[in-house]
Amino acid sequence: MSQTLHNEIQKEVDKRRTFAIISHPDAGKTTLTEKLLLFGGAIRLAGSVKARKASRHATSDWMEIEKQRGISVTSSVMQFDYNGHRVNILDTPGHQDFSEDTYRTLTAADSAVMLIDVAKGVEAQTIKLFQVCRKRGIPIFTFINKLDREGKNPFELMEELEQVLGIRSVPMNWPIGMGRDLCGVYDRMKNQVELFQGDDHSTIQVRPVDDYNDTVIRDMAGEYLHDQLVQDLELLDVAGDPFDFDKVRSGELTPVFFGSAVNNFGVQTFLENFLQLAPKPGPRNSTEGPVEPTNEKFTGYVFKIQANMNPAHRDRIAFLRICSGRFERGMSVRHVRAGKDIKLSQPQQFLAQDRDIVETAYPGDIIGLFDPGIFRIGDSLSQGGEVVFDELPTFPPEIFAKVTVKNALKHKQYQKGLDQLTEEGTIQIFHSIGNFDETILGVVGHLQFEVFEHRMRAEYGVEIQLHRMTFQAARWIVDENLDPTKFRINSTLVKDKKGNYVALFENEYAMRTAMEKNPTAKFLETQP
Ligand code: G4P
Repeated sequence: MSQTLHNEIQKEVDKRRTFAIISHPDAGKTTLTEKLLLFGGAIRLAGSVKARKASRHATSDWMEIEKQRGISVTSSVMQFDYNGHRVNILDTPGHQDFSEDTYRTLTAADSAVMLIDVAKGVEAQTIKLFQVCRKRGIPIFTFINKLDREGKNPFELMEELEQVLGIRSVPMNWPIGMGRDLCGVYDRMKNQVELFQGDDHSTIQVRPVDDYNDTVIRDMAGEYLHDQLVQDLELLDVAGDPFDFDKVRSGELTPVFFGSAVNNFGVQTFLENFLQLAPKPGPRNSTEGPVEPTNEKFTGYVFKIQANMNPAHRDRIAFLRICSGRFERGMSVRHVRAGKDIKLSQPQQFLAQDRDIVETAYPGDIIGLFDPGIFRIGDSLSQGGEVVFDELPTFPPEIFAKVTVKNALKHKQYQKGLDQLTEEGTIQIFHSIGNFDETILGVVGHLQFEVFEHRMRAEYGVEIQLHRMTFQAARWIVDENLDPTKFRINSTLVKDKKGNYVALFENEYAMRTAMEKNPTAKFLETQP
């Protein structure tokens, strides 16, 4: 019996690929996601990705935000099957939805697809998201999009990956022309050309060739483009990094694919290569050592909690990443922090617009648990045992505000709300040092402030006022001989909830100067 279950879990784990697409707004994430869903046969869902995005750009009044949140709950994870694989795409919201949740979601992914606009190269939001993935050491695959437009030279883009992100790259395919001249791509791994045909670039033809010197390419693409291709690939063969599977797996080397999502060009080959190279769910660190996904005991952890913005429905959804075992609806599990057993009776799986009740799920899958207020971010659930997964990191806030309560009589409710919402991870909280205790809130994205303000009013009946501050960066300071006066020159020193020192800086320059002036101090991006 036990062997049967073990084999079943193993089989399901082998099939699974759970990843997030990281990109800067407008690089084409929605478009690429849609195309991937289409390949998975989830045609019905594809349009909804776009619809959802459109609604995001609507006004920011509360009804609207509520609608947006409602929609984004249901499409936070998209699942489809392709070629024997079960694919889970985790949504990482950009635009005004960007928040600490976005970072936390990356902890639930086993790999990432970094989407880059060929004309814009590596952009700000991509850098931030990349760094989070890098720290986790997960494999990162790069898709360079919008090849049908004039863009940067591919070598320049590779250089940028190395200079800006510090990652070496290995092109899996190479463009033949670009923009208006785009003919197709040469697949370096399979020795074949994929060609666009027709003015609208719609038909795709795949032709095996001997190598990139094959005259077939010349016949199809013309002499000029073929010469260029040969020249580029000769250079790559000599000076480029060879494909190294181990380096890809450890996140040191990123395989690069060129394509055009909107034309569906290069997407399918990307998907197929990605599914082959990307890792299946692996072991997760816990207090009891690494937990293997094939461990028969079900375990998982909560990486995100989505509150319903409608005060009439206070239910929340806790997003759980399954780490081991088999999940079954109605099963009883240990809520380790709370020290009690709970029944998981209304689990949901997210498929774009529809919330489906899930009967069984396996490691790598994400399920949504109805949360009457019992979960916190980072909570571990386990079947028989007290397994606690490594704490989720906190990320340094970049936007800060002082908070005041409009009605002083509401101070008690205010304190309660503040405590609960910080515990949930809605915002981070700091306190000034000295006689006059000021509360400073820190967030990664503006939406977190909006949600905080709204929930304080709707759930705790407290009107607050936020006063934006000019700080742009925070670092936790560890220094045995900390002399607060030395920090005052370039920063404001505050304390977090646990009493750790945190320095707030107005800009990068101030931070660098503080680092130089305090050589014995450690400046940490996450809570020590
Ligand atoms: P995002 O989710 O990353 O923010 O980007 P999204 O997919 O919405 O794409 C942003 C814009 O880029 C869209 O144009 C989309 O059509 C376009 N786009 C995506 N992939 C490609 C591509 O391969 N080539 C070209 N040329 N454009 C691409 P839009 O004008 O903002 O919207 P729409 O009116 O086209 O829907």
